[in-house]
Amino acid sequence: MPVMIMPKAWEIENFLDIRDNKLHVSGVPADAIAREYGTPVFVFSEARIKHNVERLKRAKYSIDVPLKVCYAAKANSTMGILRAVMEAGSDLEVNSGGELWKALEIGFSGNQLIFNGTSKEVWEVEMAIEAGIYAIQVDSVYELSLIEATAKRLGKRANVSLRLVPEIETGTHSGLQTALRTSKFGMMPEEAFSAIGRYSDSANLEISGVHLHIGSQNPESEPYAKAFTMLFESLLRVHRETGIRLKHINLGGGFPVNYLRDRSQESEFPGEQRAMFQADFEPADAIREAWDAVRLTAESAGAADLLHEITLLIEPGRSVISDAGICLTTVRNHKSRPLDPLVSKTDDWLLTDAGFNILLSMETYKWYYHLISAERAAEPHTCEYKLAGPLCDGGDVYFDIEGHGRLPDHRLLPDGVRPGEILALLNCGAYSLAQASQYNGRFLPPVILIRSNGKAEVIRKRDTFLDLVSRDIY
Ligand SMILES: Cc1ncc(COP(=O)(O)O)c(C=O)c1O
Repeated sequence: MPVMIMPKAWEIENFLDIRDNKLHVSGVPADAIAREYGTPVFVFSEARIKHNVERLKRAKYSIDVPLKVCYAAKANSTMGILRAVMEAGSDLEVNSGGELWKALEIGFSGNQLIFNGTSKEVWEVEMAIEAGIYAIQVDSVYELSLIEATAKRLGKRANVSLRLVPEIETGTHSGLQTALRTSKFGMMPEEAFSAIGRYSDSANLEISGVHLHIGSQNPESEPYAKAFTMLFESLLRVHRETGIRLKHINLGGGFPVNYLRDRSQESEFPGEQRAMFQADFEPADAIREAWDAVRLTAESAGAADLLHEITLLIEPGRSVISDAGICLTTVRNHKSRPLDPLVSKTDDWLLTDAGFNILLSMETYKWYYHLISAERAAEPHTCEYKLAGPLCDGGDVYFDIEGHGRLPDHRLLPDGVRPGEILALLNCGAYSLAQASQYNGRFLPPVILIRSNGKAEVIRKRDTFLDLVSRDIY
């Protein structure tokens, strides 16, 4: 009888799987990539990016109006990734003049771009107006006056939407909450309404929408219904008070990624953390629930026509790119350390070449990236190791150094892992490379994109010695 091999919980059909005991990414053996390009190295799958964009776009079947998906570039704006996202059919959300420049350079048109940010500078506003972008998302009344003055000076009309504070709390990490009165983003609804009233006749502003973002990695779908309802009620009030018919509602991003598909380590997390890391709902379902709630509000207010004239925007980052990327790292050092002088038990330490210089959230948010052996992926992962990166910093560890138990103390890998073995950190395509630094004189890693035809392509080269000093004057 043939032996049935159960797939590992982290495997994803047509993307991450095991063949001959080795991890494969879209059909390409991970250890071969590591040997050819060195480690640490990020590996992305074009097919998975496409799959994720299509999954988000399926939300259009949940609503009766057009849907505009704008990938949040802040999650990862490596040029080859932006191109893959564009080719997958997504528009783009940017957060700075730099990201706007990158977007235009890749070939996004102005109509495909929206621009967020709390501290926009005049040159950035000018650039956005000149490019005729779909919406500058205004963070304050002051910023609205700045945009109007800039547009007037340029003799142009700027498309703007106002970012509101909905005061909605979600079950995510406190640092990822963005929709509270205490968070730094957006303006209180009353401020926004009076600003719209003041600028409703401006020849240089096209006030076209309202926006919010309730936070990242939101574990429940319900807040999206609350958020959408709040935005629709705002749109209704704007129409009643000023006669302006807003053209779009932007629900932001925040759709979660399941970082704990393999539940072998789940008991190590406090309950709230576990719920957040395991969050898993279909964006299309959340949007359908939200749409149904808003339709009732619209009908009972006799304003269904307003609802049917809008375009719905979403700005997903993590849910597009997080699980489309892995990081391969090599174990460079090993040591055994007694736990306590009075007991003979020791900890097996593995020191890798992937530290928080390339995975900052592991340190700042105690973010969990599942770890497996890329070379012995099919073997039981039941032996406990303490993991740490290469940086000269005591916080560069894969556990919670502050002892609050927000990450597992040990990682589970096959027996006998020693220097030279290649490991893979999964789900780390979002907010990793985008925040990477050369701390400790470490090279920024190369990035490989596995094309849909199975070809591995370098989309970013590893830094060289010269890159470490290229902006220094000495
Ligand atoms: C305004 C805004 N939009 C979109 C996003 C993307 O969020 P996520 O990556 O969780 O989808 C963020 C990130 O926090 C954001 O601040």
